[in-house]
Amino acid sequence: MKNQVIKPLFMWAGGKTKMMKHYNQLLPNDVKTYTEAFLGGGAMFLNVVDKFNIKKAYLNDVNSDLIEIYKSIKNDVDLFCTYMDDLQKKYMSVSYVNGDKTERKKFYLDKREEYIKMYDTWPKEDNGIERSAVLYFLMKTGFNGIWQSSIKANGKFYTPAGLLNHKEGSTVYDISNVMMWSKLLNDTDVELTSKDWSQVTMGDFTFYDPPYRDSFTSYNTEFGDEEHKKLIKRVEECEDGKTVWLCNRDAHDGFFKSTKATIETFPITYTAGRRKQNDDGSHEAKQATEILMYNHTPEKKQEIADLRRFMLMCY
Ligand SMILES: C[S@@+](CC[C@H](N)C(=O)[O-])C[C@H]1O[C@@H](n2cnc3c(N)ncnc32)[C@H](O)[C@@H]1O
Repeated sequence: MKNQVIKPLFMWAGGKTKMMKHYNQLLPNDVKTYTEAFLGGGAMFLNVVDKFNIKKAYLNDVNSDLIEIYKSIKNDVDLFCTYMDDLQKKYMSVSYVNGDKTERKKFYLDKREEYIKMYDTWPKEDNGIERSAVLYFLMKTGFNGIWQSSIKANGKFYTPAGLLNHKEGSTVYDISNVMMWSKLLNDTDVELTSKDWSQVTMGDFTFYDPPYRDSFTSYNTEFGDEEHKKLIKRVEECEDGKTVWLCNRDAHDGFFKSTKATIETFPITYTAGRRKQNDDGSHEAKQATEILMYNHTPEKKQEIADLRRFMLMCY
């Protein structure tokens, strides 16, 4: 059997899995300490642990409920999966006949309400593992990787139901992927935190993937241009010997242009779930430009420049 590849635990708005093929040729030559301050689904963390022998990783996201899921999976994956399996069994036994998802939708909405109502009173003895499992179940059955919250839900998870079209014999979540995450989080010296990005210790490679400037995507946080400017400064002032990357999407207003750091741009086509809807209701792939701003060591910058020259010569 082929070795299974570890994937992010959930779809996440702005997830970077699709960017790895572009990023890989620009990675530093070695990484011992790695920081990802806007973790989301952690696509870059997975890429980095796959390529380097990481001694320490600082993984952070201001969304503490998200970080609790990672912590639960790290601390007691068996208990986490017991809760998940129980939820999955109950959900799969809810009637879904001829595409009628009324009952499943009710199950989802009731669970979401229970999660919100009980948020502060879930039993503490299991270190919040049941609460995290319920949230993970909601994320796996809710609308595609979108984190919505509402005042009605005290700012907690309030994403609408997803397709809820799981067929008999299928699963809501990938238990082997969850197990692999647990092993990874235990085999690597990982510090999981939920602070503001500016408080997170920088590694010898630090990756910043903040919310997009031109997106209304809500992670339940405000992230304005002043914050983006502070991040740009972090890249520009990066100490020699360290590497800092900052990515975003081009809003075509020249915001990132004046930086002293190096900028790469990547034209991207969004596929399913992120398609542009035309006036007549038809859908088309949405085009965008991803930006990567970085400050490498002088040697690595030279190496990238040489590689580019070589590729141009071969072209
Ligand atoms: C673009 S997403 C990161 C996606 C991630 N790289 C992936 O591959 O899934 C941005 C993340 O930043 C987090 N965030 C927003 N404001 C933050 C802040 N001030 N400090 C730390 N994290 C923040 C959000 O919760 C969200 O998960």
